[in-house]
Amino acid sequence: MKAIYHKGVQSLEGIQFGEVEQDKISDDEVIVKLKTAGLNHRDLFIPNRHNENDPPIVLGSDGAGVVDQIGADVTNVKVGDEVIINPSLGWEKNSAVPPEGFEITGFPFNGTFAEYITIPAENAVPKPKHLNWEEAGVLALSAMTAYRALFTRGQLKAGQTVLIPGATGGAGTYLMQFAKAAGATVYVTSRSKEKRQQALKLGADKAIDSELDWNEQLDGEKVDLVIESVGAATFKKSVDQLKRGGTLVAFGASAGDTVDFDLRKFFYGQFNLLGSTMASAEELHEMLDFIEKHSIKPVMDKSYKLEDFEEAFERLDNAGMMGKIAFTI
Ligand SMILES: NC(=O)c1ccc[n+]([C@@H]2O[C@H](COP(=O)([O-])OP(=O)(O)OC[C@H]3O[C@@H](n4cnc5c(N)ncnc54)[C@H](OP(=O)(O)O)[C@@H]3O)[C@@H](O)[C@H]2O)c1
Repeated sequence: MKAIYHKGVQSLEGIQFGEVEQDKISDDEVIVKLKTAGLNHRDLFIPNRHNENDPPIVLGSDGAGVVDQIGADVTNVKVGDEVIINPSLGWEKNSAVPPEGFEITGFPFNGTFAEYITIPAENAVPKPKHLNWEEAGVLALSAMTAYRALFTRGQLKAGQTVLIPGATGGAGTYLMQFAKAAGATVYVTSRSKEKRQQALKLGADKAIDSELDWNEQLDGEKVDLVIESVGAATFKKSVDQLKRGGTLVAFGASAGDTVDFDLRKFFYGQFNLLGSTMASAEELHEMLDFIEKHSIKPVMDKSYKLEDFEEAFERLDNAGMMGKIAFTI
């Protein structure tokens, strides 16, 4: 089958498009013929983590398509069902941390940037009816991560104020929409004036420049919750914008993993610092109910054919997008 895969040199230069072997199906698995897939920042990181001498890995965590084959023991779906891929492998029930053995599609197992994917049957989830194929294909990973970070970890309540740095990316646009739907006041940051204007149109209450003084732009107003996924470039400013007793949930580090941390400010502020990563199948289902109830759709940026992957990866790497980048297959 045709796929976007990584092989060889440990960088984005190792990404290629061509023929790869399709994974065989086991009794408890299904094969989905993919119609669409979605790019995530994770897809930029995997080529640096996949060993040079290992067999090729098909990239991609998000996708949507039609069930093409089912294993002998499968009862939850049938051939012809329209599904999205739950990229969270081996995390069924909500829990403080994922169980041992938890993995994500697209590394170390083959992913969604391909004509077919072989996955455990429970990871084929009915496609939300209010989404078209492209919207369904870019949904799961960022939206379920955003949902857990905001609600399970951040415990966001109506009437609170939340700050979302880098809110114009994939996860950020879900965070912004979910927080608004939950009745919060939502402040976002972006380096781009154009994207800040788009964020305001999407419902953000204030959109400030990531690279200028945040406290000044927010007239000194502090917030209850910050959801941090940018990392080193914004982390200090995020901590500084918390109310006393406020909470910061971190799940990403696009702009660097390492930060200096002012411990005194932290304990005097009685802040809560929480990590979060992905989400369980249970939270994915809660998120699907939530977006259906509030008629939330992904913010779509551009769609590309698999063979035009270089352009798509470059757009993500340069943060040129507003929302989600899709592949049509
Ligand atoms: N732990 C998990 O389970 C999990 C799940 C999903 C995502 N993540 C992580 O969360 C992060 C976001 O993921 P994503 O897919 O939403 O990424 P994305 O679509 O690439 O968005 C990242 C956004 O961050 C902002 N940004 C990047 N570099 C910046 C810098 N130097 N200064 C200020 N802002 C910067 C950009 O906003 P502007 O261009 O508007 O400034 C960009 O749109 C990534 O690090 C990803 O790995 C983790």
